[in-house]
Amino acid sequence: MLPFTKFIMPMKSLKKIVVLSGAGMSAESGIATFRGAGGLWEGHMVEEVATPEAFHANPGLVLKFYNARRKNVLESSPNPGHTTLAHLEQDFDVHIVTQNVDDLHERAGSSKVLHLHGELVKSRSTADESLVFEIEGADLNLGDLCPLGSQLRPHIVWFGEAVPMIERAVEIVREADVVIIVGTSMQVYPAAGLINFVRPNVSIHLIDPNPPEIFMRNLTIHAMGAVAGLELVRSSISPG
Ligand code: OAD
Repeated sequence: MLPFTKFIMPMKSLKKIVVLSGAGMSAESGIATFRGAGGLWEGHMVEEVATPEAFHANPGLVLKFYNARRKNVLESSPNPGHTTLAHLEQDFDVHIVTQNVDDLHERAGSSKVLHLHGELVKSRSTADESLVFEIEGADLNLGDLCPLGSQLRPHIVWFGEAVPMIERAVEIVREADVVIIVGTSMQVYPAAGLINFVRPNVSIHLIDPNPPEIFMRNLTIHAMGAVAGLELVRSSISPG
């Protein structure tokens, strides 16, 4: 008699959807984007709040800036676009590679979220970057110390710093069967360069009311917001 294992049917692997999300993904949750009219970088100088030099020169100001961002996120909720992506996990292997530092993908129920630029709800040690902690509440203050006794900083990738998650992101993008780009101006590298790792013949959907100019084969542009665009794309892709 054949061993039992011979009769086990191989599992059909699910189609892999890779979502590259940016600030526009959370715009309909009431979180400001960075660029353009009303964007965060219109009201703040990047060099004064989002660089290691800024934190060295004026840590209080940088902490205050991120405390305000964190408060905004804690008061916001996932929008139906986040929920659509979470529901796609019922039929697809969904991986989200986000430039966003909010936790709205996770709160909507997405289980595989990679944060390229860090996470607002976490802090890390300035003495040992492997020491990462959840922040309780909205505020991280001067004098909040890690167990080694050094000041805690926001767990954010600032301009001029390495992007440690980029290699894992490249691996994920290389395996995509479908790619959805949503709500990013594609101006910040290395994140914007991820599309160069999409395999030929993979369909790419770009959702943005003001779509950035990118030239790729198999690109479909949906010039609309994330909520409507993700619902449209969801109804157009089949699990088979
Ligand atoms: P940007 O602010 O550069 O771009 C946001 C994009 O979202 C724009 O293309 C908008 O047209 C689009 N958008 C606006 N409303 C939208 C909606 N309702 N639905 C879909 N799209 C919408 O934000 P990012 O590209 O994410 O990094 O910025 C990348 C990085 O630059 C950020 O992670 C941040 C920033 O500086 C750091 O702070 C390290």
